Amino acid sequence: MAKQVSAQGLQWFQDVRFGMFIHWGPSAIPARHDWIMAAESIPVPEYEKFAAQFNPTKFSADEWVSIAADAGQKYMVFTSRHHDGFSMYDTALSDYKITNSPFGRDPVRELADAIARRGDIKLGFYSSVLDWHHPAYRFRDESGLAWSDYLEFLHGQVRELCTNYGELACLWFDGDWPRHQLPAEHAYFKAGGSFEYDKLYDLIHTLQPGAVVLNNRHDEPLSGEDVQGFEQDLPGMNTAGFNPSTVYTFPLEVCMTINDHWFYVDGSRNHKSARQLVQYLARSASAGANYLLNVGPTTEGEILPQHAERLRRVGKWLKVNGESIYGTRAGTIAPTAVTVSTRKGNTHYVHILDNVSDYVVLNDVPAQSARLLSNGLPVEMQRKEGKLILIVPESQRDSMDTVVVLS
Ligand code: GLC
Repeated sequence: MAKQVSAQGLQWFQDVRFGMFIHWGPSAIPARHDWIMAAESIPVPEYEKFAAQFNPTKFSADEWVSIAADAGQKYMVFTSRHHDGFSMYDTALSDYKITNSPFGRDPVRELADAIARRGDIKLGFYSSVLDWHHPAYRFRDESGLAWSDYLEFLHGQVRELCTNYGELACLWFDGDWPRHQLPAEHAYFKAGGSFEYDKLYDLIHTLQPGAVVLNNRHDEPLSGEDVQGFEQDLPGMNTAGFNPSTVYTFPLEVCMTINDHWFYVDGSRNHKSARQLVQYLARSASAGANYLLNVGPTTEGEILPQHAERLRRVGKWLKVNGESIYGTRAGTIAPTAVTVSTRKGNTHYVHILDNVSDYVVLNDVPAQSARLLSNGLPVEMQRKEGKLILIVPESQRDSMDTVVVLS
């Protein structure tokens, strides 16, 4: 049995509900595909040329952190190393890293410092357990390295991340697909097919007792994993086909792209509107899940202005309605076609997500009073045939999400 996160760490994580996910790396240079190295079968030396050009001169940690803060996001999960194997921080365990690119700076150091200056956001790290660049991981490599050399690297990087950048919110793992991606004769299988998670998670929980561990590739969290993750979908709604349909009794997190991609991809469309983002946040919270919303900064290091603008509009809504999100737990009032709910003790927050009529009909809830969260005005309640009807005229509605507080 691996250790788990501290009770305080877990509570903090559940209370904050909203985080910024950032996928950033040299694939933002060709900007054609999230997985361009694999999708276009680009050999390592060719791909290394992108890394060697990486010079995001417009990167400003303060700017990114201020966008997250304005959005009301309380943690920032950054790709320390994605599948392409390029370390986005000044690791001592590889030369294939951002501080050896023309940029020469350590964005993680700068983000950690910017976050420390504010004090109301925590940093977290995405780490890929697979690595298309590391000679001990790659397909059919003749490096002579052993699987244990790869594990030493992977665990060593996690140790660096847990040691060098202050108090973390989470360690977030991806890429546990060797069964699908590696040939049967690969060292991974010869070594028993393991990333030695028990050891890895103990290391994290020892160095960062308040940081949660999430492994997005495990349907049911393993020992030492504190949160169950869902991707591009709400818990239990397996519309994309790659999510667990079972929701276990764990704290939950939904990660989602703001457009169609994790990384910056030229011409990516389908930017979610501020309204959609607010509603995903409310729906996630109503299911007891955090909402980790991804942006993919550009080659030059900027979060796209249209993304920053949407995030800030979500933040404006949260300024008024944050009480119905932060510190809440899954709602116990059954959702309807137009409502979901969140809860804090005996206080229920009904989120009205569509304005089809002046009233919403809920299954009866033993509520004594109802008021609008935005301005405190009382909301008229009627009871009929075991139902509770809330009357909220159009003029009092918020087009994103109108919150009614039932006490
Ligand atoms: C998907 C993407 C991967 C991304 C991950 C985040 O698996 O393929 O690139 O990092 O989602 O959950």
